[in-house]
Amino acid sequence: EQLYLNGDMSRGVLACVTCHGDGGNSTIPMNPNLAAMPHEYIAKQLRDFVPQGDKRAVRTGADGAPSIMSTIAPTLTPQDVQNVALYLSHQKMDWDKAGTATHEATMERGQTIWRAGIADRKVPACAACHSANGAGLPGEFPRLAGQHPEYLLEQLKLFRSGDRANDIMRDIADRMNDQDLAAVADYAAGL
Ligand code: HEM
Ligand code: HEM
Repeated sequence: EQLYLNGDMSRGVLACVTCHGDGGNSTIPMNPNLAAMPHEYIAKQLRDFVPQGDKRAVRTGADGAPSIMSTIAPTLTPQDVQNVALYLSHQKMDWDKAGTATHEATMERGQTIWRAGIADRKVPACAACHSANGAGLPGEFPRLAGQHPEYLLEQLKLFRSGDRANDIMRDIADRMNDQDLAAVADYAAGL
């Protein structure tokens, strides 16, 4: 909690709260909401942002551009990662600040993909791994409910381009067109 709120200037660790909000409830569309995320997922992401020697980090922005998190994650010790991940996983969602669905017209399409996937393109149901209500699953399966829809759509595009390297999500995002990605990102945010 201390690190989340204040960072540690003596070690060059920035305060997370500035960008991710009180208890992880960010109000900025491209800054993910981190409250009540599975701690294993948060810890994995913090490792994935760290550049690997000469190689890029597992997780970058579009066209391999370093994520802002790639300057922050390397300043954290494994103990910091564990502490901050546990702190965030225990924070409550503030639903007044959470993301919501805004595109009425694509709601049905989003719901279908969420619950049943797209059979003829072999897209599995998102609910299988992110849970029916979007709360995520213990382990490395993130909560998507209440996330900012703009952020979710951006991540789906990063999986598809491989800038965020993840075999499962790359395969899934690759089988969907832009309209499907937008529909399901918006629907998931509103769960
Ligand atoms: C993403 C944690 C500080 C901006 C993330 C993610 C985590 C995280 C776990 C991935 C979330 C997900 O996959 O859903 C932290 C912690 C911090 C910190 C523990 C403090 C030690 C900051 C600061 C900023 C920031 C200070 C702004 C200057 C962002 C942005 C993303 C992000 C923009 C999305 C990045 C992308 O997709 O490439 N952060 N963060 N974070 N964080 Fe932080
Ligand atoms: C991550 C969406 C289906 C496993 C994510 C993220 C999004 C997403 C937006 C990133 C979240 C964040 O950055 O906070 C979806 C959608 C799906 C779907 C829309 C359905 C079309 C699945 C399925 C599985 C799965 C079926 C399991 C077989 C994962 C895992 C991660 C993830 C393991 C974390 C990846 C990492 O560590 O970087 N998903 N997902 N997802 N999803 Fe999915």
